[in-house]
Amino acid sequence: MKKYTIMEAIEKGMQEVEFYGWVHRERGSNKFKFINLRDSSGIIQCVFNREDFSDDKWEDIDKLLIESSLKIVGKLVEDKRSEVGYEIQVSDFEIFNRADIFPITKDQSPEFLADNRHLWIRSRKMIAIMKVRSTYVQARDEFFRNEKFYRFDTPILQPSQSEGGSTLFEVNYYDSKTYLAQTWQLYGEAAIFALEKVYDMGPTFRAEKSKTSRHLSEFWMAEMEAAWFDLYDAIDFAKKELKYCIGKVIENNSKELEFLGQNVEKLKEMLNREWPTIKYREALKVLKEKSGMEVEFGKDLRTVEEEKLMEYFETPVAVTHYPKEVMAFYKPSDKDNKDEALCFDMLAPSGYGEIVGGSQRDLDIEEMSKRLLADGEDLENYQWYFDLRRYGSVMHSGYGVGIERVIRWICNLENIKDAIAFPRTMLRFKP
Ligand code: 4AD
Ligand code: MG
Repeated sequence: MKKYTIMEAIEKGMQEVEFYGWVHRERGSNKFKFINLRDSSGIIQCVFNREDFSDDKWEDIDKLLIESSLKIVGKLVEDKRSEVGYEIQVSDFEIFNRADIFPITKDQSPEFLADNRHLWIRSRKMIAIMKVRSTYVQARDEFFRNEKFYRFDTPILQPSQSEGGSTLFEVNYYDSKTYLAQTWQLYGEAAIFALEKVYDMGPTFRAEKSKTSRHLSEFWMAEMEAAWFDLYDAIDFAKKELKYCIGKVIENNSKELEFLGQNVEKLKEMLNREWPTIKYREALKVLKEKSGMEVEFGKDLRTVEEEKLMEYFETPVAVTHYPKEVMAFYKPSDKDNKDEALCFDMLAPSGYGEIVGGSQRDLDIEEMSKRLLADGEDLENYQWYFDLRRYGSVMHSGYGVGIERVIRWICNLENIKDAIAFPRTMLRFKP
């Protein structure tokens, strides 16, 4: 087993080291060979002096191509010009695999990189993103444990829609049909009567018939559901969750964020600010007064409108009370304004759009039935869900965070596809 990564050895102040990794770059002359060795922690330059090796060994190392795997033994010496502050003077090495000519070279088309995604995830860009994502997701788990939530796992194969039939993926299930989960929520709601506060994160599926930079067909939604929470409790909690997780990313991955072109100071400052909550009707007013954009009440906000609106904010904003008639069946009416739903979307600044969606939950079986029937649904499929309203119903609320949406935003990524290692979109499900 490998003992220390490159960065661990440097941090420990070790001198004689043994590193295991891959050739990131190589160049050489007849006197020296330089290999940039990459492991999961970083990249270090390894210097081979011709004089220190037999002809055979020199031949071995001289012909080594990038992405070959090897062990390197040597001495760490300070090198001010190097990114990690050190280089290695190599005394010995062992090659595990001589790589073929690596297909990925500079300036490849996005299509080519997508076809070779299994190799492209070794790039510095993808490594940085995957590290941020890992920190984010681990921090989220920590957050919910600290808040005394129970982790609750639910089925991916589900009998019906919950977020609209048009984006369902149908799956043959023996002699009948099921659908891939569009959300964890309905089962999360069942769990609050046993556990009160639950959370989870899982693969989520939407047959989005659009090729935008913010939609995936398979993405990871991080959801929570809590008994006794009203809409505003859920919104405050979502802000707290995001601030906590982003704070942890800044703490652990500033280097990666900077590499990706994110302004870490600005991000940090944003965490200390109050994130506003406004009503949809106020958002329409802002759009009209500040940019002359007329949006009539009764429609969801389109991407252009979200982008325009967010030009006037420097932090995420929670927009509440969207028009009831265009919302999912489980979002209740506000009792004072029946045309508004007790729901919210959190929008990220700088044009990254919706990152969180949530609501208080409707407790009225009749209201929900009306809506489901209008959508052509078979009420039989929802009787189990209505039971939750028949046996000890209580006020409850929850929300879902789109993990790739958040990662895209904090990593400053042009396209959501890079926020996940193996993206699934309308046009691609390979490799
Ligand atoms: O707003 P959505 O559709 O809300 C729900 O599904 C609720 N049932 C969640 C809940 O209340 N428990 O989706 C939640 C979030 C969105 O805000 C967005 O960030 C992300 O999931 N999302 C997508 N991310 C990538 N690709 C897609 N096609 C997405 N659709 C939604
Ligand atoms: Mg939404």
